[in-house]
Amino acid sequence: MRELGLGFVGLGQAVSLILRRKEELAGLPYRIVAAAERPERAGALKTFENEFGGRGYTSVEELCQDPDVDVLYIATLPEIRLEQVRVAAEHGKHVIVEKPMATDLDEAHEMIAVAEAAGIKLLAGHTHSFDAPILAMEQLVRAGEIGELLSILSFNYNDFNVRPWPTRELIATHGPVYNQGPHQIDIVRQLGGGLVETVRASTFWDELRGCEGGYTCHLTFQGGASASLVFDARGYFDSAELYGWVGEGGQRRDPETSRRMRASFAETAAAADSTDDFEQRLEAHKELGRYGAEGVSDDALARFGYSRAETPYQPFFGYTLVSGTRGVIRQSRTGLVVYGPNGPEERTIEHQLKGRAAELSELYHAITEDRPVRHDGRWGLATLEVCLAIVRSAAEDREIRMHHQLAMPDVGA
Ligand SMILES: NC(=O)c1ccc[n+]([C@@H]2O[C@H](COP(=O)([O-])OP(=O)(O)OC[C@H]3O[C@@H](n4cnc5c(N)ncnc54)[C@H](O)[C@@H]3O)[C@@H](O)[C@H]2O)c1
Repeated sequence: MRELGLGFVGLGQAVSLILRRKEELAGLPYRIVAAAERPERAGALKTFENEFGGRGYTSVEELCQDPDVDVLYIATLPEIRLEQVRVAAEHGKHVIVEKPMATDLDEAHEMIAVAEAAGIKLLAGHTHSFDAPILAMEQLVRAGEIGELLSILSFNYNDFNVRPWPTRELIATHGPVYNQGPHQIDIVRQLGGGLVETVRASTFWDELRGCEGGYTCHLTFQGGASASLVFDARGYFDSAELYGWVGEGGQRRDPETSRRMRASFAETAAAADSTDDFEQRLEAHKELGRYGAEGVSDDALARFGYSRAETPYQPFFGYTLVSGTRGVIRQSRTGLVVYGPNGPEERTIEHQLKGRAAELSELYHAITEDRPVRHDGRWGLATLEVCLAIVRSAAEDREIRMHHQLAMPDVGA
C-alpha cells in the first residue's frame, strides 16, 4: 500500500495528543516525516526529530518544500490557518485543519476556494463525529433501524473554560462555542443528516473567565427532525459521571479532574500579581501540555489532564440520544444501546480507528482513490455556520436561518 508522508504544523497540545498516543496511528499508511513550529519552540522540533527521525522546520513554507510531505496536519490557532492552507495549496499538499476551521464564514469560503483551485483535498478535522459510536449511530439512523428520525439530544458538561487557555484565545472562540461547539454540532449534524434549517440559542456567561461559559440551542433540520444541545464548560459538573467516568478519548476519567482544574486555575489567579503575570502563568501551564515541552514529568501531565492513559472504552463527547418513530439509540461505554420494540439491546463496537486515526484514514482513501472527503471544507463550513449562529441568535434574541448547509454522503460513497 502506498504510504503518504505526514507533516505537522504547530507541535502544540492538539498534536501532542496525537503523538502521545502514536500507537493509535500504527498500521495507517502514513509516515511521520516532518513538523513546523515557531523558532521559539525549537526545542520541540529537536524532540520531534529525535523521536521520529523526521525533519523540523521553523516555517510552513520550508515544510511545504519538503518533497516527502504529502499531507499537512495544521493545528495552529484559527486566525493563521487560512494563510497556511494557502501555502500548502501552492505546493500541492493536502491538508487537515483543526477545528474550528476559521472564525468567520468568509475565511472558510476562501479556504475552500483555495483548496479547490489547487486541486488539493481539504479535511475539516478533528471532531468527535469521527468516533466509531457516532458513525455506527449514523448508519443505524440511515438504515431506518429506529424508523423516521424525530429528535436528537446532546449535552456535555466539562472543564474546557478552566483549562489554561490564554484569555485572549478563549474570548476569540467565545469560550467553548467555536472550540467545543464544532464537536457537538458535527455529531448532531451528522446524525440529523446535515441540513440544519434554523438555529435558536442562548449563551450564558462565565464570570471567572469573562466570556461565554456555555450555550443551550435548538436546531431544526430539513425533513422535520430537531435537536436540543446544551454545553456547559465551566467545570462544575462533569457529564462523564453519568456514563461511568469515561473520558473524551475513551480513557478512564478521574472524577476529580474538573475540581482539580478549577482549583489549579484559582491558584494561578491568586498567585499572579498583575494581568500580564496571570497570562504568563496560564501560558506556562498550557506549555506543559504541548509536544516537546521541556522538563515535563508524568505527574505534571496527569495533574493538568494530559496523561498518556490507555483508552479501553469508546470515546465520549457528552451524552447523545437519538429518537426515531420506532426506537431510541444512545451511546454506551463499549458501543451503543438500541431501545426497540423488544427492549434495550447492547451492541458492542469492536476496535476501530479512533479520532485522528479515523480522519487520517478518511483523507488517505480520498487521496489515493481520488474520491471526495466526507468531512470536507464545505462540511466544516456548515458546522461553523451553526457555531456562528449560536452567538448571533443569543445576541439578537432571535432564530437564525441557515444558508450553507449540506448533507453528508453515505459512508463509502
Ligand atoms: N488542546 C487540545 O486538546 C485540542 C484538541 C483538539 C483540537 N485542538 C485545536 O487545535 C488548535 C490548536 O490548539 P492547541 O491547544 O493545540 O494550541 P497550542 O497553542 O498548544 O498549539 C499551537 C501550536 O502552534 C504553534 N504555532 C503558532 N504559530 C505557528 C506558525 N506560524 N507555524 C508553526 N507553528 C506555529 C505554537 O507554537 C503552538 O505550539 C485549536 O484550534 C484547537 O481548537 C486542541
